[in-house]
Amino acid sequence: MIRKLTAGVAVVAAASVLAGCPPSGGGASGGGSGSGPILVGYYGDLTGPTATFGTSTREGVDLAVEEINQDPPLGRPLEIRAEDDQGKSEQAVSVVTKLVDQDQVVAVLGEVASSNSLAAAPVCQRANVPMITPASTNPQVTQVGDYIFRICFIDPFQGSVMAKFAANSLNAKRAAILWDAKSDYSKGLRDFFKQTFPGQIVAEPSYSAGDTDFNAQLNAIKQANPDVIFVPGYYTEVGTIARQARDQGIKAPLIGGDGWDSPKLFESAGKALDGSYFSNHYSAESTDPRVQDFISAYKKKYNGKVPDAMAALGYDAAKILADSLKRAGATDGPKLRDAIAQTKDFAGVTGNISLDADRNATKPAVVLQISGDRFKYVETVEP
Ligand code: PHE
Repeated sequence: MIRKLTAGVAVVAAASVLAGCPPSGGGASGGGSGSGPILVGYYGDLTGPTATFGTSTREGVDLAVEEINQDPPLGRPLEIRAEDDQGKSEQAVSVVTKLVDQDQVVAVLGEVASSNSLAAAPVCQRANVPMITPASTNPQVTQVGDYIFRICFIDPFQGSVMAKFAANSLNAKRAAILWDAKSDYSKGLRDFFKQTFPGQIVAEPSYSAGDTDFNAQLNAIKQANPDVIFVPGYYTEVGTIARQARDQGIKAPLIGGDGWDSPKLFESAGKALDGSYFSNHYSAESTDPRVQDFISAYKKKYNGKVPDAMAALGYDAAKILADSLKRAGATDGPKLRDAIAQTKDFAGVTGNISLDADRNATKPAVVLQISGDRFKYVETVEP
């Protein structure tokens, strides 16, 4: 460790001399200054109801950092400061404030849930610290300001993917929507599905994250007799919703978005989701060698665990940050922001990533079908 740090110091010192400028910094404290490791913040729900979101992302980030540090940007290894926000927006604000003010990280990776990214992004924007969300798909997130980026597609696209899938592949003319009134992600995806579904929306009752009884809403949906039920929620409720729907004798297929993705989906769903479809960022069944290399490395590091979409997105987000640091040649906020904004054709495991003028990624989505205990690849939809 010490030997590596010393090597890093030498490289940075040499680089400074060559560039004819003094070393930028302050020393041990502050992730950007000095010659020690470059500190990068990570926030997510490492505990709480949707903890597979934060945990998978962090595992993907850690794997990427291990690889990045074999040839680190600016000759300085990346060091992740990870904070658990328990999936709560207030907690997200407080841990990101700590990362930015106290740890003085050069950039922040996170969150998964759009509501939490929306809560914490203003903290990064005010401090001129770039934030890259790997997975938040609500359009408003990057509208917070020019320091806020995402490397995933946005929900107007995802909503249209599933609306068209319902109409074209499932021949649905009548759709019901069951959405989570506590989630910005869910509300947005409901609207974007409605905007592009060519048939009729026959019912759209809501629930609140944490609910366990959906019988009243499902009964209303049953009366409306839909051909398909769109559930833009998180895996925590979707399984229970599916079971209660089948118990009520509802036969219409359930479809959803990326929020369904979790190895824990099956625990609550049992067989009730068998045959259902959802849109996602990546398929572990892809034969692309880039994807397969990532999956083997991840399995090796995490006891044979298959990476979900959050793990893949966390990995890509950290790699894009390292690539941007290299291109920026510096860790200061404005330079790093500009370099991230210029990301073009980055070969990620979730696809080729180019950022547009709104700091969003234009990327394909995949549709997966739940089949036994696996997510079966169905198709790729280009933007
Ligand atoms: N897109 C979801 C949101 O914005 C989060 C998510 C991403 C969940 C990927 C699962 C997989 O809230």
